[in-house]
Amino acid sequence: MKDILLKKFAQVFGDAEGAKVYFAPGRVNLIGEHTDYNGGHVFPCALTIGTYGAARKRTDNKLRFYSMNFEKLGVIESSLEELTPSKGAGWTNYPKGVMWAFGERGMKMSQGMDLLLLGNIPNGSGLSSSASVEVLTGYILRDFFGYEVENQDLALIGQYSENHFNMVNCGIMDQFAIAMGKKDCAIFLDTADLSFEYAPIALKGAKIVIASSNKKRGLGDSKYNERRSECETALAELQQEVEISSLGDLDEETFEKHKEAIHSDVRRKRAKHAVYENRRTIRAVEALKRNDVEEFGRLMNASHVSLRDDYEVTGMELDTLVEEAWKIPGVIGSRMTGAGFGGCTVSIVKDDSIDDFIKQVGKAYEAKIGYAADFYVVEIGDGPAEL
Ligand code: GLA
Repeated sequence: MKDILLKKFAQVFGDAEGAKVYFAPGRVNLIGEHTDYNGGHVFPCALTIGTYGAARKRTDNKLRFYSMNFEKLGVIESSLEELTPSKGAGWTNYPKGVMWAFGERGMKMSQGMDLLLLGNIPNGSGLSSSASVEVLTGYILRDFFGYEVENQDLALIGQYSENHFNMVNCGIMDQFAIAMGKKDCAIFLDTADLSFEYAPIALKGAKIVIASSNKKRGLGDSKYNERRSECETALAELQQEVEISSLGDLDEETFEKHKEAIHSDVRRKRAKHAVYENRRTIRAVEALKRNDVEEFGRLMNASHVSLRDDYEVTGMELDTLVEEAWKIPGVIGSRMTGAGFGGCTVSIVKDDSIDDFIKQVGKAYEAKIGYAADFYVVEIGDGPAEL
């Protein structure tokens, strides 16, 4: 991979002298969905697929970007004076956002750079290709300019750039999972205070299979922000009765006792999901620790039902993938993963059922939806690195 990138770098930017090659993973969330902006727990892991980048510092303040995933766009030129978001800048808004966010923290770049990217995360699949580019950029900036930031800061800076430069009000999960990734481990993260613990994922005789719905994201981002504000309103209503600082502070019982403080059925359902999903995540990690993978799977399934019925972020494509998966013996658990409204599902499937799973779910999906899904048997990898 390193050679491919350096060769292309030389082709695009003249030569590859002094260029270095880096990698940042994508992520998949095993359980704990739409809890990260509600002060709850999440349980994601970094993948071995992600974004590769070749980069070189320049002596002037120019920025030159090239993506091997969007070759038609050619070299996109900009400069350190132009670190403002713009529609026409396309994917370069992600690295530029991170450069801007470093500047906001008093780490202004003194020189520009040439940056070439190649991602092998399926396009727009909800495996966090944008967060991967953000963390990758931060990692490169730290290496080039010696900024004193930890990997956890790279996550926070990435999220800051996404929130304030790219205007997506996301939580911390994606960037954190990528910046802090650890081979064969998922990260049990409490988003209320960023305390976390690595939990080994040793699935004896089973693997993690991702199914991409290939549904084009449409209203996704605006619906995401809508869910966030529904939860914020529900929290404010509950706070009239109970002393909590986030929905993640509630257990199921306390929620049931005070739920009438929320004055709308819809908001009550949203809050219910946030509360129950957080508790499910805690229980799922406990189950995993005592090697009860079956219980982990049941909690994954319950997570999907809650995202479908109470949080209403699934849609026909994701529901079809999951409901077809549930029919296959050998599927331990299956649910949508990420923001929803399209994107992917994550399933834990026994080794000897994986072929059947891909064949049968794929066939049923295409028959019902009219186009094909893609399947990936994935592995859990490390965080960002220089190659
Ligand atoms: C997206 C966001 C995350 C998280 C998930 C839902 O991936 O970027 O912060 O909220 O959706 O769990």
